[in-house]
Amino acid sequence: MKFFVDSAELPEIQKLNAMGLVDGVTTNPSLIYKSGRDFLEVIRDIAAVVPGPISAEVTAEDHPTMMREAEKLVTLGKNIVIKVPLTVDGLMTCRRLRQDHIPVNVTLCFSLNQALLAAKAGASYISPFVGRLDDQGQDGMGLIQDIRDMYDNYGFETEILAASIRHTDHVRRASLIGADVVTCPPSIFYQLFTHSLTEKGLAAFRDDWAKTGQRVV
Ligand code: E4P
Repeated sequence: MKFFVDSAELPEIQKLNAMGLVDGVTTNPSLIYKSGRDFLEVIRDIAAVVPGPISAEVTAEDHPTMMREAEKLVTLGKNIVIKVPLTVDGLMTCRRLRQDHIPVNVTLCFSLNQALLAAKAGASYISPFVGRLDDQGQDGMGLIQDIRDMYDNYGFETEILAASIRHTDHVRRASLIGADVVTCPPSIFYQLFTHSLTEKGLAAFRDDWAKTGQRVV
């Protein structure tokens, strides 16, 4: 399973990328707003730091303008993935971009039928928003499982990118289901490393080692 970082904060992305565990980055207009930075500049900067796929989302809602935006966004780096919303115009844009072999991430997916349409439009990635479904009492991870089953039924190559991740159990369950990618906010990325028994065990080893009075280096 690939790990993407769901952020537009360059310092955070750089820090995580230095660990060698970041396969790509996802952004959206809300994350760009939070960063307080210029959209095109921040995408260019991220694409220069992380060699993997960087999702940059179109902001227009009509197909012709989405295409114009996409044409500009792809110039920001060799690894840009155009993110389009799951709408009629979004999927028209997806199909058109895929004809030109431009990778596309279809976002704001909340149902199996939407995921089916995105795959038929040739999406490189489908982004089901797990947390936002959970927030309204629906089963976000159930949707990931359903999409996995349906894509496997037909051999669709669209990668399932589990998004709107709220806690580490979403990551655990996505990995068991076989999601291709999980995109995590930096805070959740760090939580994946932690376990109380790891901390407790490390403290015990530290104490006992100190008692030996030895040094390795
Ligand atoms: C995915 O690409 C989106 O940027 C993101 O996961 C949305 O998550 P949110 O529901 O926490 O805003």
